[in-house]
Amino acid sequence: MTRRAAVLAGLGSALPPRVVTNDDLAGRMDTSDAWIRTRTGIAERRVVDPGTATSDLAITAGRRALDSAGGPRVGAVVLATATPDHPCPATGPTVAAGLGLGTVPAFDVGAVCSGFLYALVTGAGLLAAEVADSVLVIGADAFTTLVDPHDRATAPIFADGAGAVVLRAGRTDEPGALRAIDLASDGLQADLIRVAAGGSRQRSHHTEALREDHYLTMRGGEVFKNAVLRMTESSRTVLARTGWTTADVDLLVGHQANARILYAVADQLGADRERTYVNIGHTGNTAAGSIPLALDEAAGEGRLRPGDRVLLTAFGAGTTWGAVTLTWPHGLTRPRTPAA
Ligand code: COA
Repeated sequence: MTRRAAVLAGLGSALPPRVVTNDDLAGRMDTSDAWIRTRTGIAERRVVDPGTATSDLAITAGRRALDSAGGPRVGAVVLATATPDHPCPATGPTVAAGLGLGTVPAFDVGAVCSGFLYALVTGAGLLAAEVADSVLVIGADAFTTLVDPHDRATAPIFADGAGAVVLRAGRTDEPGALRAIDLASDGLQADLIRVAAGGSRQRSHHTEALREDHYLTMRGGEVFKNAVLRMTESSRTVLARTGWTTADVDLLVGHQANARILYAVADQLGADRERTYVNIGHTGNTAAGSIPLALDEAAGEGRLRPGDRVLLTAFGAGTTWGAVTLTWPHGLTRPRTPAA
């Protein structure tokens, strides 16, 4: 029996309307537009206002992906997020209900900035196991809700946004099919990027939990080195499994953590920087939202044509990382208005 492959059939994204520039940040912390641009490639980012939650971004991105797939229904929803609306329950069912999808299976996947790749592979697994014939896979985060707004180590980097794809069951050899997959983790590095309090280890209602323990902390230099190493390794693994060389890749779409990380990965792989997609300049690091948001913007700019060979790779807290190869489908290339 041949395995049912997962084929990309819809694509959408959503960004909150409020723009925060580097100069806005420089007004409240010791940083500058020049430092942030040079060290990260970020010029501005989108931030949710109080009252907007991850599910709001996820529902908008999900609706756009369903519209682009040409049908309002799917058989399951997988939501990658590290910023659920509430610690309990999962946000996936809220998103499924918000999209009018009835009682379909819906749940969250938590792999932080690698979350979209983990969710994509989970969606492919649901298709292969014949749990559903189509799956809505969403990456959405309101990551600024975890960040100390006065911390210059994290506030310039993290931002809010969502992206979504529809997967349908199909054949491995058709345009749009996922090809090779590599996923990995290293829990010994759990303290590289984390929020200490609010979980079962350090509970939010304990009075001894410090306010700052509820904010994200990051060892930036170590994260940088590990991100380059792991994204490069994982990319090499999936290229070898697919039988592609770096030169065969039409577009490298990496998790938008830092433009310097993306170019370092491209350089290590020997990939042309022109074929490395970078939209972090106006999005910042949107965590699980970043890869599908980048795919949607790249498709809207005509950077992805049917049959193109695409390499996705991500690294995130956990630590977790991975890579996926796929070919670009027909029908998802038309110019779009920018996500809003
Ligand atoms: N504005 C101005 N100066 C800053 C600054 C800021 N926002 N943040 C740090 N600095 C200063 C530091 O204090 C240091 O000063 P010093 O040389 O006088 O000691 C100097 O800039 C260099 O700091 P460093 O932390 O070594 O900078 P860096 O080049 O490593 O860049 C990051 C910092 C965070 C941008 C970088 O490490 C990074 O991008 N890491 C990966 C983050 C990431 O991708 N996270 C998500 C993964 S999913």
